[in-house]
Amino acid sequence: MKPDFIPAYDPQEGALRARELFEETFAAKPEGVWRAPGRVNVIGEHTDYNGGKALPLALPHAIYVALRVREDDQLKIISEDFPQLSVHSLLELAKNYPASGPGAFVGGVILGLKQVLEDNGHPEKAQALAQKVPGLEVAIASSVPLSAGLSSSAALECAIAVGIDDLASLGLAGSFEGRKLLVEAGKVAENRYVGAPTGGLDQSASMLCEQDRVLELDCATWQTRSHPFDLPALGLSLLVIDTCTSHDLADGQYGARRAACEEAAQVLGVKELGELIPKDITPSDNLTDLEAADYPPSWVQSQLDKLEDTEQVSRVRHVLTEIARCQRLCELLEAGADLDQWRELLDASHESLRRDYEVTCKELDVAVEAARGAGAYGARMTGGGFGGCAIALVRSDQLEATADAILDAFTKAGFNQPRFLSALPSAAAGRVE
Ligand code: GLA
Repeated sequence: MKPDFIPAYDPQEGALRARELFEETFAAKPEGVWRAPGRVNVIGEHTDYNGGKALPLALPHAIYVALRVREDDQLKIISEDFPQLSVHSLLELAKNYPASGPGAFVGGVILGLKQVLEDNGHPEKAQALAQKVPGLEVAIASSVPLSAGLSSSAALECAIAVGIDDLASLGLAGSFEGRKLLVEAGKVAENRYVGAPTGGLDQSASMLCEQDRVLELDCATWQTRSHPFDLPALGLSLLVIDTCTSHDLADGQYGARRAACEEAAQVLGVKELGELIPKDITPSDNLTDLEAADYPPSWVQSQLDKLEDTEQVSRVRHVLTEIARCQRLCELLEAGADLDQWRELLDASHESLRRDYEVTCKELDVAVEAARGAGAYGARMTGGGFGGCAIALVRSDQLEATADAILDAFTKAGFNQPRFLSALPSAAAGRVE
Protein backbone atom coordinates (compact mmCIF):
# COMPACT_ATOMS: atom_id res chain seq x y z
CA MET A 1 0.00 0.00 0.00
CA LYS A 2 1.25 3.50 -0.82
CA PRO A 3 0.87 6.44 1.59
CA ASP A 4 -2.00 8.74 0.70
CA PHE A 5 -0.84 12.39 0.39
CA ILE A 6 -3.57 15.07 0.48
CA PRO A 7 -2.82 17.71 -2.15
CA ALA A 8 -3.45 21.42 -1.56
CA TYR A 9 -5.51 23.29 -4.16
CA ASP A 10 -3.59 26.07 -5.78
CA PRO A 11 -5.49 29.33 -5.23
CA GLN A 12 -6.98 29.42 -8.75
CA GLU A 13 -8.25 25.87 -8.43
CA GLY A 14 -9.68 26.46 -4.94
CA ALA A 15 -11.39 29.65 -6.12
CA LEU A 16 -12.82 27.90 -9.17
CA ARG A 17 -14.23 25.07 -7.07
CA ALA A 18 -15.89 27.46 -4.62
CA ARG A 19 -17.26 29.66 -7.44
CA GLU A 20 -18.66 26.73 -9.41
CA LEU A 21 -20.31 25.28 -6.32
CA PHE A 22 -21.78 28.71 -5.60
CA GLU A 23 -23.16 29.13 -9.11
CA GLU A 24 -24.68 25.63 -9.16
CA THR A 25 -26.32 26.11 -5.78
CA PHE A 26 -27.53 29.70 -5.91
CA ALA A 27 -27.90 30.16 -9.69
CA ALA A 28 -26.05 33.48 -9.41
CA LYS A 29 -22.52 34.84 -9.43
CA PRO A 30 -20.70 35.36 -6.11
CA GLU A 31 -19.30 38.81 -5.28
CA GLY A 32 -15.84 37.34 -4.79
CA VAL A 33 -13.81 34.42 -3.44
CA TRP A 34 -11.60 34.51 -0.35
CA ARG A 35 -9.06 32.03 0.97
CA ALA A 36 -7.76 31.24 4.47
CA PRO A 37 -5.18 28.57 5.32
CA GLY A 38 -5.17 25.82 7.93
CA ARG A 39 -2.13 25.70 10.21
CA VAL A 40 0.30 23.48 12.00
CA ASN A 41 2.00 24.58 15.16
CA VAL A 42 5.73 23.79 15.19
CA ILE A 43 6.00 24.08 18.98
CA GLY A 44 4.28 25.86 21.89
CA GLU A 45 1.22 23.68 22.47
CA HIS A 46 -1.56 24.55 24.90
CA THR A 47 0.32 27.74 25.68
CA ASP A 48 -1.95 30.27 23.94
CA TYR A 49 -4.66 30.36 26.61
CA ASN A 50 -1.92 30.54 29.23
CA GLY A 51 -0.43 33.78 27.92
CA GLY A 52 2.55 31.90 26.51
CA LYS A 53 4.20 31.55 23.12
CA ALA A 54 3.44 29.46 20.06
CA LEU A 55 5.13 29.05 16.69
CA PRO A 56 2.63 28.25 13.92
CA LEU A 57 2.93 28.26 10.16
CA ALA A 58 0.15 28.55 7.58
CA LEU A 59 -0.46 25.45 5.45
CA PRO A 60 -0.82 25.53 1.68
CA HIS A 61 -4.08 23.68 2.40
CA ALA A 62 -6.82 26.24 2.69
CA ILE A 63 -10.54 26.93 2.75
CA TYR A 64 -12.05 28.93 -0.12
CA VAL A 65 -15.37 30.72 0.27
CA ALA A 66 -17.44 32.26 -2.51
CA LEU A 67 -19.80 34.85 -1.01
CA ARG A 68 -22.79 37.00 -1.86
CA VAL A 69 -24.65 39.30 0.48
CA ARG A 70 -28.36 38.67 1.16
CA GLU A 71 -30.87 41.38 1.98
CA ASP A 72 -32.57 39.29 4.71
CA ASP A 73 -30.98 37.74 7.82
CA GLN A 74 -30.53 34.28 6.30
CA LEU A 75 -27.23 32.41 6.11
CA LYS A 76 -27.34 29.83 3.34
CA ILE A 77 -24.28 27.62 3.30
CA ILE A 78 -23.20 24.86 0.97
CA SER A 79 -19.95 22.95 1.17
CA GLU A 80 -18.18 20.39 -1.00
CA ASP A 81 -17.90 18.24 2.12
CA PHE A 82 -21.55 18.54 3.23
CA PRO A 83 -23.52 18.87 0.02
CA GLN A 84 -26.85 19.59 1.70
CA LEU A 85 -27.72 23.31 1.83
CA SER A 86 -27.80 24.48 5.41
CA VAL A 87 -29.97 27.47 6.32
CA HIS A 88 -29.71 29.54 9.49
CA SER A 89 -31.03 32.86 10.76
CA LEU A 90 -28.42 35.37 11.90
CA LEU A 91 -30.91 37.07 14.23
CA GLU A 92 -31.76 33.74 15.81
CA LEU A 93 -28.04 32.95 16.36
CA ALA A 94 -27.62 36.34 18.05
CA LYS A 95 -30.16 35.21 20.66
CA ASN A 96 -29.45 31.47 20.94
CA TYR A 97 -25.89 30.23 21.25
CA PRO A 98 -23.71 28.21 21.34
CA ALA A 99 -25.18 26.57 18.27
CA SER A 100 -24.10 23.77 15.98
CA GLY A 101 -23.67 23.51 12.21
CA PRO A 102 -21.81 25.79 9.80
CA GLY A 103 -24.16 28.71 10.59
CA ALA A 104 -22.53 29.02 14.02
CA PHE A 105 -19.12 29.61 12.39
CA VAL A 106 -20.29 31.92 9.60
CA GLY A 107 -22.85 33.83 11.67
CA GLY A 108 -20.51 33.79 14.67
CA VAL A 109 -17.88 35.71 12.69
CA ILE A 110 -20.38 38.34 11.51
CA LEU A 111 -21.75 38.85 15.03
CA GLY A 112 -18.27 38.53 16.54
CA LEU A 113 -16.77 41.17 14.26
CA LYS A 114 -19.62 43.58 14.99
CA GLN A 115 -18.97 43.15 18.71
CA VAL A 116 -15.19 43.50 18.35
CA LEU A 117 -15.58 46.70 16.31
CA GLU A 118 -17.92 48.18 18.93
CA ASP A 119 -15.56 47.21 21.75
CA ASN A 120 -12.53 48.70 20.01
CA GLY A 121 -13.89 52.15 19.23
CA HIS A 122 -15.18 51.59 15.69
CA PRO A 123 -18.98 51.93 16.07
CA GLU A 124 -19.32 53.34 12.55
CA LYS A 125 -17.64 50.24 11.08
CA ALA A 126 -19.85 47.99 13.24
CA GLN A 127 -22.88 49.79 11.83
CA ALA A 128 -21.61 49.53 8.25
CA LEU A 129 -21.15 45.78 8.74
CA ALA A 130 -24.68 45.30 10.09
CA GLN A 131 -26.14 47.34 7.23
CA LYS A 132 -24.10 45.91 4.39
CA VAL A 133 -24.03 42.25 5.46
CA PRO A 134 -27.43 41.38 6.98
CA GLY A 135 -27.22 37.83 5.62
CA LEU A 136 -24.92 35.78 3.41
CA GLU A 137 -24.79 33.04 0.78
CA VAL A 138 -21.67 30.92 1.14
CA ALA A 139 -20.11 28.13 -0.93
CA ILE A 140 -17.13 26.38 0.66
CA ALA A 141 -14.36 24.36 -1.01
CA SER A 142 -11.64 23.01 1.28
CA SER A 143 -8.35 21.19 0.96
CA VAL A 144 -7.89 21.31 4.75
CA PRO A 145 -8.94 17.94 6.18
CA LEU A 146 -11.89 18.52 8.51
CA SER A 147 -11.69 17.80 12.26
CA ALA A 148 -8.07 16.70 11.91
CA GLY A 149 -6.56 19.33 14.20
CA LEU A 150 -5.31 21.47 11.29
CA SER A 151 -7.67 24.34 12.10
CA SER A 152 -10.28 23.88 9.43
CA SER A 153 -12.67 25.75 11.76
CA ALA A 154 -10.36 28.73 12.14
CA ALA A 155 -9.70 28.70 8.39
CA LEU A 156 -13.43 28.93 7.74
CA GLU A 157 -13.78 31.73 10.29
CA CYS A 158 -10.87 33.67 8.78
CA ALA A 159 -12.07 33.21 5.18
CA ILE A 160 -15.46 34.59 6.21
CA ALA A 161 -13.78 37.39 8.17
CA VAL A 162 -11.67 38.66 5.24
CA GLY A 163 -14.71 38.22 2.99
CA ILE A 164 -17.12 40.31 5.04
CA ASP A 165 -14.37 42.85 5.65
CA ASP A 166 -14.32 43.43 1.87
CA LEU A 167 -18.08 43.16 1.37
CA ALA A 168 -18.68 45.85 3.99
CA SER A 169 -15.65 47.91 2.79
CA LEU A 170 -14.15 47.99 6.29
CA GLY A 171 -10.53 47.87 5.09
CA LEU A 172 -9.32 45.84 8.08
CA ALA A 173 -7.36 43.14 6.25
CA GLY A 174 -5.06 45.79 4.76
CA SER A 175 -3.26 46.46 8.04
CA PHE A 176 -1.73 44.38 10.79
CA GLU A 177 -3.86 46.07 13.46
CA GLY A 178 -6.98 45.50 11.37
CA ARG A 179 -6.09 41.85 10.92
CA LYS A 180 -5.81 41.47 14.68
CA LEU A 181 -9.44 42.62 14.95
CA LEU A 182 -10.39 39.95 12.41
CA VAL A 183 -8.51 37.38 14.53
CA GLU A 184 -10.50 38.55 17.53
CA ALA A 185 -13.77 38.14 15.61
CA GLY A 186 -12.84 34.52 14.82
CA LYS A 187 -12.10 33.90 18.49
CA VAL A 188 -15.48 35.29 19.53
CA ALA A 189 -17.17 33.12 16.88
CA GLU A 190 -15.48 30.02 18.21
CA ASN A 191 -15.72 30.71 21.95
CA ARG A 192 -19.21 32.21 22.10
CA TYR A 193 -21.18 31.01 19.08
CA VAL A 194 -19.62 27.56 18.49
CA GLY A 195 -18.88 26.97 22.16
CA ALA A 196 -15.26 25.73 21.89
CA PRO A 197 -13.07 27.41 24.56
CA THR A 198 -9.98 27.66 22.31
CA GLY A 199 -7.23 30.22 22.70
CA GLY A 200 -6.62 32.19 19.48
CA LEU A 201 -3.54 30.44 18.10
CA ASP A 202 -5.39 29.07 15.08
CA GLN A 203 -7.05 32.29 13.95
CA SER A 204 -3.79 34.22 14.46
CA ALA A 205 -1.93 31.71 12.30
CA SER A 206 -4.47 31.84 9.49
CA MET A 207 -4.62 35.62 9.51
CA LEU A 208 -1.02 36.66 10.27
CA CYS A 209 1.45 34.04 8.98
CA GLU A 210 3.81 34.69 6.06
CA GLN A 211 5.10 32.57 3.22
CA ASP A 212 8.34 30.63 4.00
CA ARG A 213 8.27 31.79 7.61
CA VAL A 214 6.95 30.77 11.02
CA LEU A 215 5.15 33.16 13.31
CA GLU A 216 6.31 33.70 16.87
CA LEU A 217 3.10 34.55 18.62
CA ASP A 218 3.21 36.05 22.09
CA CYS A 219 -0.25 35.30 23.44
CA ALA A 220 0.16 37.61 26.44
CA THR A 221 0.56 40.75 24.32
CA TRP A 222 -0.60 39.34 20.95
CA GLN A 223 2.58 40.69 19.46
CA THR A 224 4.23 38.73 16.71
CA ARG A 225 7.58 38.29 15.10
CA SER A 226 8.24 36.15 12.07
CA HIS A 227 11.27 33.88 11.71
CA PRO A 228 12.83 32.29 8.63
CA PHE A 229 11.70 28.72 8.01
CA ASP A 230 12.75 28.10 4.45
CA LEU A 231 12.70 24.30 4.61
CA PRO A 232 13.49 23.58 0.94
CA ALA A 233 16.68 25.63 1.23
CA LEU A 234 17.72 23.27 4.04
CA GLY A 235 16.70 20.17 2.08
CA LEU A 236 13.97 19.56 4.64
CA SER A 237 10.23 18.95 4.59
CA LEU A 238 7.61 19.08 7.29
CA LEU A 239 5.55 15.92 7.10
CA VAL A 240 2.08 16.17 8.62
CA ILE A 241 0.49 12.89 9.66
CA ASP A 242 -3.28 12.87 9.99
CA THR A 243 -3.95 9.93 12.29
CA CYS A 244 -7.60 9.94 11.18
CA THR A 245 -8.76 9.65 14.77
CA SER A 246 -11.53 11.91 15.95
CA HIS A 247 -10.67 15.23 17.51
CA ASP A 248 -13.28 17.49 19.08
CA LEU A 249 -12.33 20.59 21.05
CA ALA A 250 -15.87 21.24 22.28
CA ASP A 251 -16.18 17.86 24.06
CA GLY A 252 -14.93 18.93 27.49
CA GLN A 253 -11.38 17.52 27.58
CA TYR A 254 -9.81 20.65 26.14
CA GLY A 255 -11.88 22.79 28.51
CA ALA A 256 -10.78 20.63 31.45
CA ARG A 257 -7.09 21.27 30.65
CA ARG A 258 -7.76 24.95 30.38
CA ALA A 259 -9.66 25.01 33.68
CA ALA A 260 -6.82 23.18 35.48
CA CYS A 261 -4.35 25.82 34.26
CA GLU A 262 -6.60 28.68 35.32
CA GLU A 263 -7.06 27.18 38.79
CA ALA A 264 -3.32 26.65 39.15
CA ALA A 265 -2.65 30.25 38.07
CA GLN A 266 -4.96 31.41 40.85
CA VAL A 267 -3.12 29.35 43.44
CA LEU A 268 0.19 30.75 42.16
CA GLY A 269 -1.12 34.30 42.33
CA VAL A 270 -0.92 35.21 38.64
CA LYS A 271 -3.52 35.95 36.00
CA GLU A 272 -1.90 33.62 33.46
CA LEU A 273 0.81 30.98 33.87
CA GLY A 274 2.91 32.71 31.20
CA GLU A 275 3.69 35.47 33.72
CA LEU A 276 5.91 32.98 35.59
CA ILE A 277 8.43 32.72 32.74
CA PRO A 278 11.70 34.54 33.53
CA LYS A 279 13.01 37.12 31.06
CA ASP A 280 16.08 35.07 30.26
CA ILE A 281 16.01 31.33 30.05
CA THR A 282 19.59 30.19 30.36
CA PRO A 283 21.07 27.64 27.93
CA SER A 284 21.82 25.37 30.91
CA ASP A 285 18.10 25.06 31.78
CA ASN A 286 17.15 21.49 30.97
CA LEU A 287 14.02 21.67 28.83
CA THR A 288 14.43 18.46 26.87
CA ASP A 289 15.45 15.49 29.02
CA LEU A 290 12.28 14.77 30.96
CA GLU A 291 13.84 11.85 32.86
CA ALA A 292 16.85 13.77 34.19
CA ALA A 293 17.12 14.89 37.83
CA ASP A 294 17.40 18.55 36.81
CA TYR A 295 14.08 18.49 34.90
CA PRO A 296 12.21 20.74 35.11
CA PRO A 297 14.51 23.75 35.68
CA SER A 298 14.48 25.15 39.23
CA TRP A 299 12.35 28.19 38.32
CA VAL A 300 9.63 25.76 37.25
CA GLN A 301 10.10 23.41 40.21
CA SER A 302 9.84 26.26 42.70
CA GLN A 303 6.33 27.00 41.36
CA LEU A 304 5.32 23.34 41.34
CA ASP A 305 6.32 23.10 45.01
CA LYS A 306 3.56 25.57 45.82
CA LEU A 307 0.86 23.35 44.31
CA GLU A 308 -0.88 20.57 46.20
CA ASP A 309 -3.02 19.14 43.45
CA THR A 310 -0.99 16.55 41.51
CA GLU A 311 -2.96 17.11 38.31
CA GLN A 312 -2.16 20.82 38.46
CA VAL A 313 1.52 19.97 39.02
CA SER A 314 1.75 18.01 35.77
CA ARG A 315 -0.25 20.52 33.75
CA VAL A 316 1.83 23.46 34.95
CA ARG A 317 5.09 21.54 34.38
CA HIS A 318 4.05 21.11 30.76
CA VAL A 319 2.90 24.68 30.22
CA LEU A 320 5.96 26.40 31.71
CA THR A 321 8.53 24.14 30.05
CA GLU A 322 6.67 24.30 26.74
CA ILE A 323 6.65 28.09 26.68
CA ALA A 324 10.38 28.00 27.41
CA ARG A 325 10.97 25.40 24.66
CA CYS A 326 9.11 27.61 22.20
CA GLN A 327 11.21 30.60 23.22
CA ARG A 328 14.40 28.60 22.82
CA LEU A 329 13.45 27.35 19.36
CA CYS A 330 12.70 30.93 18.28
CA GLU A 331 16.20 31.95 19.37
CA LEU A 332 17.70 28.98 17.50
CA LEU A 333 15.82 29.86 14.31
CA GLU A 334 17.43 33.28 14.26
CA ALA A 335 20.86 31.73 14.76
CA GLY A 336 20.63 29.24 11.84
CA ALA A 337 19.64 25.59 11.56
CA ASP A 338 20.88 23.54 14.50
CA LEU A 339 18.98 20.38 13.64
CA ASP A 340 20.07 18.40 16.70
CA GLN A 341 18.70 21.04 19.02
CA TRP A 342 15.50 21.40 16.95
CA ARG A 343 15.05 17.65 17.25
CA GLU A 344 15.51 17.62 21.02
CA LEU A 345 12.99 20.40 21.49
CA LEU A 346 10.34 18.89 19.21
CA ASP A 347 10.70 15.44 20.74
CA ALA A 348 10.57 16.79 24.30
CA SER A 349 7.46 18.79 23.47
CA HIS A 350 5.67 15.60 22.48
CA GLU A 351 6.86 13.74 25.60
CA SER A 352 5.65 16.56 27.79
CA LEU A 353 2.25 16.59 26.06
CA ARG A 354 2.05 12.83 26.46
CA ARG A 355 3.26 12.48 30.02
CA ASP A 356 2.30 15.74 31.72
CA TYR A 357 -0.55 17.24 29.70
CA GLU A 358 -2.03 13.87 28.69
CA VAL A 359 -3.47 15.02 25.39
CA THR A 360 -1.84 12.52 23.03
CA CYS A 361 -3.38 9.16 22.13
CA LYS A 362 -1.90 5.85 21.00
CA GLU A 363 -2.16 6.76 17.31
CA LEU A 364 -0.23 10.02 17.86
CA ASP A 365 2.41 8.24 19.93
CA VAL A 366 2.88 5.51 17.32
CA ALA A 367 3.10 8.08 14.50
CA VAL A 368 5.79 10.01 16.37
CA GLU A 369 7.75 6.87 17.30
CA ALA A 370 7.68 5.57 13.73
CA ALA A 371 8.80 8.93 12.33
CA ARG A 372 11.70 9.06 14.78
CA GLY A 373 12.60 5.48 13.92
CA ALA A 374 12.74 6.48 10.25
CA GLY A 375 15.26 9.21 11.09
CA ALA A 376 13.11 12.34 11.51
CA TYR A 377 14.70 15.48 12.95
CA GLY A 378 12.07 15.61 15.67
CA ALA A 379 8.42 14.60 15.72
CA ARG A 380 5.49 15.66 17.86
CA MET A 381 1.75 15.95 17.96
CA THR A 382 0.44 19.33 16.82
CA GLY A 383 -2.71 21.26 17.74
CA GLY A 384 -5.12 20.41 20.51
CA GLY A 385 -4.43 16.66 20.58
CA PHE A 386 -6.83 13.88 21.63
CA GLY A 387 -6.41 12.55 18.07
CA GLY A 388 -5.72 14.70 15.04
CA CYS A 389 -2.27 15.29 13.59
CA ALA A 390 1.42 14.90 14.30
CA ILE A 391 4.33 16.55 12.49
CA ALA A 392 7.80 15.26 11.66
CA LEU A 393 10.71 17.25 10.31
CA VAL A 394 12.39 15.06 7.71
CA ARG A 395 14.96 15.24 4.94
CA SER A 396 13.01 15.92 1.75
CA ASP A 397 14.40 12.80 0.11
CA GLN A 398 13.07 10.80 3.07
CA LEU A 399 9.51 12.16 2.97
CA GLU A 400 7.95 9.13 1.26
CA ALA A 401 10.05 6.61 3.20
CA THR A 402 9.00 8.17 6.52
CA ALA A 403 5.35 8.11 5.46
CA ASP A 404 5.82 4.46 4.47
CA ALA A 405 7.26 3.60 7.88
CA ILE A 406 4.33 5.30 9.65
CA LEU A 407 1.80 3.58 7.42
CA ASP A 408 3.47 0.27 8.23
CA ALA A 409 3.39 0.91 11.97
CA PHE A 410 -0.32 1.84 11.78
CA THR A 411 -1.15 -1.31 9.83
CA LYS A 412 0.72 -3.45 12.38
CA ALA A 413 -1.09 -1.75 15.27
CA GLY A 414 -4.48 -2.24 13.57
CA PHE A 415 -5.21 1.53 13.39
CA ASN A 416 -7.12 3.42 10.68
CA GLN A 417 -5.00 4.20 7.67
CA PRO A 418 -3.32 7.58 8.22
CA ARG A 419 -3.10 10.33 5.58
CA PHE A 420 -0.24 12.72 4.95
CA LEU A 421 0.40 16.31 3.93
CA SER A 422 3.56 18.18 3.14
CA ALA A 423 3.53 21.55 4.91
CA LEU A 424 5.32 24.39 3.15
CA PRO A 425 4.77 27.67 5.04
CA SER A 426 2.23 29.62 3.00
CA ALA A 427 0.51 32.99 2.90
CA ALA A 428 -2.19 34.28 5.27
CA ALA A 429 -5.89 34.79 4.53
CA GLY A 430 -6.95 37.11 1.72
CA ARG A 431 -9.01 37.70 -1.39
CA VAL A 432 -8.39 35.43 -4.39
CA GLU A 433 -10.81 36.89 -6.92
C1 GLA B 1 -6.29 24.03 19.48
C2 GLA B 1 -6.85 25.37 19.91
C3 GLA B 1 -5.73 26.41 20.07
C4 GLA B 1 -4.59 25.88 20.92
C5 GLA B 1 -4.18 24.48 20.48
C6 GLA B 1 -3.17 23.86 21.41
O1 GLA B 1 -5.76 24.11 18.20
O2 GLA B 1 -7.77 25.83 18.96
O3 GLA B 1 -6.28 27.59 20.59
O4 GLA B 1 -4.92 25.91 22.28
O5 GLA B 1 -5.30 23.61 20.40
O6 GLA B 1 -1.97 24.51 21.34
